[in-house]
Amino acid sequence: MSTTTTIGTARDKLDALWTRGRDFLGTELAVMGGAMTWVSDAGLVAAISNGGGFGVLACGAMTPEMLAQEIDATRALTAKPFGVNLITMHPQLDTLAAVCLDHGVHHVVLAGGLPPAPVIKQLKDGGAKVVCFAPALVLAKKLVRMGVDALVIEGMEAGGHIGPVATSVLAQEILPEIRDVPVFVAGGIGRGEAIVAYLELGAAGVQLGTRFVCATESRAHPNFKRAFIRASARDAMPSAQLDSRFPVIPVRALQNEGTRRFMDFQREVVERFNRGEVEQKDAQLEIEHFWAGALRRAVIDGDVENGSLMAGQSVGMVTREQPTADILAELVAQAEDALAGRYGHAKDSRTQEAGPALALAGAAG
Ligand SMILES: Cc1cc2nc3c(=O)[nH]c(=O)nc-3n(C[C@H](O)[C@H](O)[C@H](O)COP(=O)(O)O)c2cc1C
Repeated sequence: MSTTTTIGTARDKLDALWTRGRDFLGTELAVMGGAMTWVSDAGLVAAISNGGGFGVLACGAMTPEMLAQEIDATRALTAKPFGVNLITMHPQLDTLAAVCLDHGVHHVVLAGGLPPAPVIKQLKDGGAKVVCFAPALVLAKKLVRMGVDALVIEGMEAGGHIGPVATSVLAQEILPEIRDVPVFVAGGIGRGEAIVAYLELGAAGVQLGTRFVCATESRAHPNFKRAFIRASARDAMPSAQLDSRFPVIPVRALQNEGTRRFMDFQREVVERFNRGEVEQKDAQLEIEHFWAGALRRAVIDGDVENGSLMAGQSVGMVTREQPTADILAELVAQAEDALAGRYGHAKDSRTQEAGPALALAGAAG
C-alpha cells in the first residue's frame, strides 16, 4: 500500500540548491549572464535580468561617460538587479568604479587579472558587492582575504580569454575549499543538467556567456549569430602560440580566416626577429596588436572571416536564435527534469507517491 506525501517539486529542490546564489544576486534564478564585450549591452543585460537571471554589462574599453549612459539605458529597460563588469587593465578603473557607485550599481565584477586592493575597497566602501574571477585555489583564498564578496571560477571551455584548467577540475579544486563566499561556476555550461551538477558540487550559481549570444535581444550581427548556430564544440579553439619566446594569451574562438592568418603573422614576425630586423619587445607588441578591434569587427560589423569569433565549447548547443526568456526557461526546465529524474521530485505538483524516491530525496537534502 502506498501513501501520498508532500516532498516538494523539482523547482523547490532547485531553489534550495541555488538559494545562496539567488540571495547574493537578488534574483529568481542564480544564473549570471557573463559579460561579453560588444555583446552585453543594455538590451541583452535587461533581457537576462527581466527573465529572472542576472545580466552583467560589459564595460570593455568604454569611457566613464559611455558606461554611465549604458547603465542608465539598462535601468530604463529593467527594474531588476544587474551588474557591471570592469576590466582591471582599464586605465580609468577607479573612475569607472566611481561611475558604478554613483549610478547605484550593487554588484561589480572585476575581470582580467588580480584586482587592485584600493579598487576593491573603493567599491565596498561605496556599498557595492565585489565579484572576482579566481583561476586557482590559492588565488581564490587570496581574493577572499582581500574581502571580495563572491567568486566566479571559469574553466578553459569558456569563450573569450581563458586559463589552462577545465571547469570540472576547477570546481573540484575550489568548491569544497571556499565556503566563506558564494562561488559561481562558468565555462562550458549549455544545459540545465550541468547547472544542477555544479550546484550539487557546492556552487552557489552559474555564469553563462556563449549560450546568450544568439538571444533575440543580443545586438550581435546576424553573421555572428549564424556562425554560432552553425558551429560545433570542436570549432571553438584556443588561439595558438607559435613560439615560446612570444607568448600568446589564449582566447577561445571559432576558427576562421583570421585565426589562420594569425599563425602566418606570428611566423612572419618570428622570422623577422630571428633575422635581427625587430626587437623582441616590438615583435611581442606586433603579435598582441594583431587582434586589436577584431571582436568589434565580428560582433558589430559582421566580418566573421577576419574578426574574432570568441565562443565557448558550448556553442554546439546553440542551435537557433531564441528570446532570452526562452533560453532561461529551457535551462530551468532541463535542471528540473534532471532533479525530477534523479530524486523522484514531482515536476509540477507538490505531492507524489512516497516510495524509495522519497528516501533518496531526503538523503540529498
Ligand atoms: C564574445 C565573448 C566576449 C566576452 N567578453 C568578456 C568580457 O568582456 N569580460 C569578461 O569578464 N568575460 C568575457 N567573456 C566571458 C563571459 O563573460 C563568460 O564568463 C563565459 O562566456 C562563460 O563561458 P561560456 O562561454 O562557456 O558560457 C566573453 C565571452 C564571449 C563568448
